[in-house]
Amino acid sequence: MLKVKFDEKKFFFCFDTMDFSSILLKWYASNARELPWRNTTDPYSIWVSEVILQQTRVAQGLPYYYRFMERFPTLQVLANAPLDDVMRVWQGLGYYTRARNLYYGARQVMDEFGGRLPSTYLQLLKIKGLGPYSAAAVASFAFGEPVPAVDGNVFRILARLFGVFTPIDSQAARREFFNLAQELIPHDNPGAFNQAIIDYGALQCTPKSPQCSICPFSEFCYAFQNNLVNSLPIKGKRIIPRDRFFYYFMISHQGDTFIKKRTNRDIWHSLYEFPMVEQSKLLNSEELVKMISGVELFQGAEVVVLHVSDVIKHKLSHLNIWATFIILEIDKPPYILLSNYIKLSVNQLHNYSLPRLIDSYMAAEPVEQYFIKQK
Ligand code: ADE
Repeated sequence: MLKVKFDEKKFFFCFDTMDFSSILLKWYASNARELPWRNTTDPYSIWVSEVILQQTRVAQGLPYYYRFMERFPTLQVLANAPLDDVMRVWQGLGYYTRARNLYYGARQVMDEFGGRLPSTYLQLLKIKGLGPYSAAAVASFAFGEPVPAVDGNVFRILARLFGVFTPIDSQAARREFFNLAQELIPHDNPGAFNQAIIDYGALQCTPKSPQCSICPFSEFCYAFQNNLVNSLPIKGKRIIPRDRFFYYFMISHQGDTFIKKRTNRDIWHSLYEFPMVEQSKLLNSEELVKMISGVELFQGAEVVVLHVSDVIKHKLSHLNIWATFIILEIDKPPYILLSNYIKLSVNQLHNYSLPRLIDSYMAAEPVEQYFIKQK
């Protein structure tokens, strides 16, 4: 039987910790999703899966996981590959910093740990790309260390069950939820507990429309009992995305175009893109013409604008990008363009990792017609 105790100071309903994990694990035994990274204790495969799944749903991440493991089956293979190959396999998944950190993390493991991932939570935290969540996941799934992997699922499930009102984006939340989960995690089966919480959050105690009518905890769930399921967890300040305005130039010159690698400390680091100008606002047609004629890259060349796309809105977690693609023809590429950009034919673009915004635009618009080679 589940024991419930009411802590006056914290206003928590406290489950007996043994009962909490045994109910959860019983639920997991009949509801677990069959996933490839659950059939292994290889820490590298688990690390890769956790990095892929950080901001990605399982269904979207699965094909990337298979492809990544096929191309980079071991940490050694990954560490010895060129970064561009890693970015190519990652292409389309977004949040490219993850891929770069995973890569440099693998190189760090080669340099500092003799090519083997360390086996404790605290040591794993020293590796680039392994934050508290993924370090806990690797430590518990691969090495059986009883450390909770605390993410949005844990915040939501514990906030609802135990009536925790601390805003989950506050400084205090991480420690508070970590401590609570640490109390609950069983020492004899920590990996299954962490996996079970993930599936419980994905299938049962979902952010919207959770399945409370078939929840084994509903009788004791603070939020369910107090009609607060839709109010917990508490979120504090919402991040308002900033607007940025990108103007891409798809230059057509005798069937070729030009791209360059992004190297600044900004989004899409290490991906390739067409020459681009960022503006502080959306331009009207008059401003657009003026802007194009002032672009330094084209100075000295004769420029004919062939096509201007509609404005495309591309949402990232913290940014709204408003992009316009301008296809233009130039008679003679100026030196500054030839020396700073890669010249290539449009049908070679797929060999380079491009932001999803650019990929989607080219997939949606028949741009090839503007890049036909003149005899
Ligand atoms: N999301 C993050 N880690 C996961 C895992 N191990 N299984 C399924 N979804 C996840």
